[in-house]
Order: sequence, then C-alpha cells, then structure tokens
Amino acid sequence: MWVILFLILLVIFILYQVLKYKYGYWERKKVPHIKPVPLLGNYGDYILLKTFIGDVVSKICAKFPNEPYIGAFYGTEPALIVQDPELLKLILAKDFYYFHGREVTQYTDREPLTKNIFFTHGDSWKVIRQNMTPLYTTAKMKNMFHLIEKCSRVFESLLEEECIASDSIEVNCLMCRFTMDCIGSCAFGVETNGMQKGHELNPYVIMGSQIFARSTLRGIKNISRAIWPYIFYKLGLQIYPESITHFYVDLMRKIFKQRDFKPSPRHDFVDFLLNLYKDKYITGEGIMTIKTGETQKVTMKVDYDLLAGQCISFLGAGYETSATTLAMTLFELAKNEELQTKVIKEVDEYLDKHNDILDYSIVTDLPFLEACIDESLRLYPPLTNLTREVMESYTFPSGLTVDKGLRVHIPVYHIHRNPNYYPNPEKYDPERFLPEEKKNITPYTYLPFGEGQRFCVGLRFAKMQMLAGLVTIFKSYKISLADGMPETLEFDPRVLIHVPKGGVNVKFIPRKDGRNYNKLS
Ligand code: HEM
Repeated sequence: MWVILFLILLVIFILYQVLKYKYGYWERKKVPHIKPVPLLGNYGDYILLKTFIGDVVSKICAKFPNEPYIGAFYGTEPALIVQDPELLKLILAKDFYYFHGREVTQYTDREPLTKNIFFTHGDSWKVIRQNMTPLYTTAKMKNMFHLIEKCSRVFESLLEEECIASDSIEVNCLMCRFTMDCIGSCAFGVETNGMQKGHELNPYVIMGSQIFARSTLRGIKNISRAIWPYIFYKLGLQIYPESITHFYVDLMRKIFKQRDFKPSPRHDFVDFLLNLYKDKYITGEGIMTIKTGETQKVTMKVDYDLLAGQCISFLGAGYETSATTLAMTLFELAKNEELQTKVIKEVDEYLDKHNDILDYSIVTDLPFLEACIDESLRLYPPLTNLTREVMESYTFPSGLTVDKGLRVHIPVYHIHRNPNYYPNPEKYDPERFLPEEKKNITPYTYLPFGEGQRFCVGLRFAKMQMLAGLVTIFKSYKISLADGMPETLEFDPRVLIHVPKGGVNVKFIPRKDGRNYNKLS
C-alpha cells in the first residue's frame, strides 16, 4: 500500500518537474509569453474544442500588440507566434530553408495521405513542388477551363432544381457539390456526378467529406497528432481512415488504365501526371539548393502512390477551402444589397460581352467579384493559423535563436483583422481589394493562400472555379439570408479549416431579368 502511494507520488513529482522545465522554455529564451495552464498550455479553448484555433491565437496576440513575436505553449509544446510582417518575410521567403517544414515533419510518412506535397518536407517536397508547379500555369488553366464551364452548366440546372425543392439552401454543402465536381473533373478526370440527385450516397461526395470530417473524434485526433505525434502514432492511430486512401489509389489505377497510360484530349491533371509516369522518374533540385545556392540534383521514382497522393492533395487542399470561401462570400453578399447590385451589374456586363458563355476571361474581367472573394478570404481565411517547423537552428535579427523542431504559428486570422493593416477591420469592404487599392496592402499581411515558397499552388485554379460558381448564381438569382439565419457566425473548432458551425442558409430569389448559359455553344 505504502509502496503504491509512494510510486504515484513519485510519478506526479516527475511529471511536475518535466512540465515545469518545459514551461520554462520561453522564460529561458527571454521571449514575452503568458503563463501556461498545465497540459493545455495557452491553447486550452482549442484543445477542449470550444473555440477555433485562429481565435485562440488571436487572443494571445491581442495581449502583446507591439511584440513582433510571442512565446506560447501548444498544449505542452512551445510554439513561437510571429506577427510582424518583416519577420514573416524571413520565415516564409528569405530564410525559408530554415522553416520549410509544415508541422511534425518527422511523422509525415506515417500515413499515405500525409505523404503528399501539402505535408511533406525536404528533398521530397522540393522535387514534387518543382515538378507539379507547371501543372498550374495560366496556359494549363486555360486548357482545362472547358471542364469548369461544363460543371457550371450542371450547376445552373442544380440551382433550378434546388430552388423549386426548397425555400432556402444551405450553401456550404451546395458549393461543396460544385467544387467537388470541378476538382473531380480536373484532378481525377472523371465525372463525379456530385451535383446529381442522390448526392448523399455518391461515393465521391462521401469520401471527399471524410477528408475534413466534422466530428469530435476527428477534432481530437487532429489536435493530438499536431501536439503529441509520438504518442498518437504509438497508439496506432491515423488521421485518415484507410478506406479513403484505398478509394483514391484504386480510382487513380482505374483511370490510368482506362486511358491506356496515354494523355487524353481532356488536358486535365491526370494527363499531366501520366506524362510524368511515362518517364518513370522525376528530377529536381534538392532542398539544400535553397540554402547554399549550389544546384544539387535529386531524383525520385514515380509510382502510383506518388501520383495518387498528389491528386488527393488537390482534392484535400482545394475542394472544401474553395467551397467554404464561396459560402462566406454568399453569406456577406446576402446581407448587403448594395454590394450585390454591383456584383450583378458586373456579371451582366460580362455575359453581355461574351454572348452568355463563360470563358477563361472571367479571371481578369470581373474585378469587383474577385474583390468580394478576396475580402471574404480576409475575414474568413480557411486556414486561420499557418504552421511552420524550424528545420535547422536559426537566429533572428533580434538575437533570438530558435531550435530545430520548434513550432512556428502564423496568426493569419489575427493579422487579417489588425486595424493597422485593415482600417475598420470587421467591416466587409471589397473595395480594399480593387486593383488600385490592392497595391497599398502591406506585404505579408494578406495570407489566405500563404506566402513565399510554399504558397498555395492552386490559387489560379481556386479563383477560376470560385468565379465560375458565383457568376452562375448571380446571373440568375438575388440572394438574402434565410429566415432565422444569424448575421454573425460561429466556427467549428473540430475541423482543420475555418468552417461555420451549422452551415449558412440562404434564400435564392430568381431574377426577373436572369439568364441561362448559351446552350448553342
Ligand atoms: C479558396 C481556396 C484555397 C485556399 C484559401 C487555399 C489556401 C492554401 C494555404 C493557406 C496553403 C498553405 C500555404 C503556406 O503554407 O504558405 C495552401 C497550400 C496548398 N494548396 Fe491551397 N488553397 C485553396 C485552393 C486550392 C486548390 C483549388 C488547390 C488545388 C487544385 C490547392 C492546392 C494546394 C496545395 C497542393 C498546397 C500545398 C503547397 C505546398 O505545401 O507546397 N489549393 N493552400
């Protein structure tokens, strides 16, 4: 009995000493910080799934408005929150080599779905990124716009059906069906039919929604993997169920075989990947090239898993991020008739000029609509807190040295709402992003797509599909918030991206002067 009591007390004592040492990290580094709560650190409300991470980090930053960086504890682990744009430039671009990992990099090969460009690091990230970048050029986007245009026509019919079926529509789900079809069509080269009836049973929709599953279990897994990856994987846990991996790897195999391993006239991502597959290896510069400036060539074998992994990353990174941005844009426009009138005028003028046909010029010819998207991304960035990992010990100009493995948190949500960068920051004001105003934005204070060498490769694709979706809506409808829909939203801390709890319900009012896409084209 006494022995057991002694052992318990000993364990508590050791744990206390370990935590005391860990929580002394920022004190020893002489970095401003807040006293942490045992085990929860300074992220308690997020770890307990009460508040989304962007808000938690923002509250920490608000306590130190004039500090370029703040020491925090993500659970038991130290994290440096950097809010000064000049330092962000160093981290994201100039001294990127030292910060090129995203998070818990040592563990990214533990799951097939975390081996892709989004999560990976080192030579593997550099070579994949270099080889994938040509996939997203303007020329490639132009070539595949016909697929987006086709999806927009299907979306037009879906909207007609949904408006007959119900007085109001939940637009997060609606826009997910649209973006799923666009990405499915371009990344997997298949018609996902996510916009057809019975979408609840559609395997693409089911598997797609699993990537960002909204459940408490997934929320707990996301957080515990990010803070305590060693324990997480030791317990045999995985973020993504194996069924998702199998589904997409099988799908890629089938599609490659269907195309007889040869490029098709679709000009989609699969064609591009097939070309890589043909060559069996991809070559690029290794990560050290960034540090030393000396070219160091690295070769990687191209197999199914590598290619399927990249297709899955397009879907994971591109489908719900775009859908949520669309939903938030609709939410803001539904509240503001004046802005909506401007959008409708611009859309009508565009379609008049283009004979009611969508073409790739939507990405240049709709500056106000694009500004609405940009402003939605400012207020509601899908990734509210970007992460980086210190990959090699680094000393900031202030003299602070950060050690290998330290987490760096970039408080995107907080920076986007800082009145020093965005006057009257809570106001939804797309004018800030009109071409003549945009150039006044302080560099590294607008980060919805990240910045520097790891910025979102899919930006052009995202803009193209989001603009097409919004034109399809506003050419035929006006919108207002559904009855009972609140004017401010709460966000779901269980999901890695910033999505509203309970959805966004919007009324679609058919415009008397609305129009259909030109069916003769
Ligand atoms: C509104 C839509 C989107 C938003 C807000 C968004 C945002 C982001 C952000 C914040 C990052 C991390 C950047 C960084 O760490 O500096 C990222 C990375 C990435 N995004 Fe997007 N994204 C969107 C759409 C897309 C689409 C449509 C695709 C693909 C078709 C895509 C593919 C990727 C990939 C592959 C990465 C990883 C890049 C890397 O680590 O090198 N994204 N995105």
